[in-house]
Amino acid sequence: MKGIILAGGSATRLRPLTGALSKQLLPVYDKPMIYYPLSVLMLGGIRDILVISSHQHMDMFKAMLGDGSRIGLNLDYAVQDQPRGIAEAFHIGDKHIGDDRVALVLGDNVFHGPGFSTVLHHSIQRLDGCELFGYPVNAPEQYGVATIDARGRLLSLEEKPRRPPSNLAVTGLYLYDNDVVELARDLEPSPRGELEITDINRAYLEQGRARLTELGRGFAWLDMGTHDSLLQAGQYVQLLEQRQGERIACIEEIALRMGFIDADTCYRLGQELTASSYGGYLMDVASRFTAGRAG
Ligand code: DAU
Repeated sequence: MKGIILAGGSATRLRPLTGALSKQLLPVYDKPMIYYPLSVLMLGGIRDILVISSHQHMDMFKAMLGDGSRIGLNLDYAVQDQPRGIAEAFHIGDKHIGDDRVALVLGDNVFHGPGFSTVLHHSIQRLDGCELFGYPVNAPEQYGVATIDARGRLLSLEEKPRRPPSNLAVTGLYLYDNDVVELARDLEPSPRGELEITDINRAYLEQGRARLTELGRGFAWLDMGTHDSLLQAGQYVQLLEQRQGERIACIEEIALRMGFIDADTCYRLGQELTASSYGGYLMDVASRFTAGRAG
């Protein structure tokens, strides 16, 4: 399966923070925002990943993540010159996807909670059309909204409905079979002029090939579109990391645990960052991993 991180957009709601910087490179406590969605794809075992960003910010993404080989990934980059809609990712990424399946994740989404890797693996395995992830929220009118029946079957999808039929938001992680490329090619812009991801999802739903998994209580799905939500996400990460001593979305650690890199490489990556506690953490993780293997 291929991966795409959509990290464009103009992020006007975060001005002046985003006057010169890309939103998806802003700090979320101890790491750049894009580490969080990147870690989601990695946990799904996905190593071929396309990062889509605006022309203005592209060099910064490349400087930060390079070709990904340091953490066992194969990263590629593509420009979206205008935010013409989330579904444009499949036009821009059609060569990258080829005849494979694809996971798309929005560059400003955090997913964190017990069993998430298992849920992800299960959804990837059973994928036959489109797999979505739902999450109960207080203000569903700000999101794509799903309704499901008593057995959890997906019944409807609407984009930012004025009167939401439920409180179940559709999160920014989407899994598709290869038909998505063709569906995106035929897609018409919505009244607000965008290629809507919800229209793609609805096309799958009409074919009876869209499923939704609820990420329920105890799970954290956060998006970071405003000053408050950005700070809250940072505080969430800080709280859990300080309390547990384990880092969230530490891409080097995930690379190690997923078998993308070995413990020596992880240790070396830590050594390069010894001035920060993040570097110390990586060395620690690598040492414990080696000891665990030996013991
Ligand atoms: O976060 C989940 C929600 O994301 C879903 O519930 C909605 O169905 C979906 O439409 C989307 O809603 P948003 O209002 O969050 O979409 P927004 O336009 O803010 O874009 C989300 C991210 O994707 C944002 O970080 C910018 C990036 N983006 C967006 C567009 C439209 C791009 O990189 N390019 C684009 O063309």
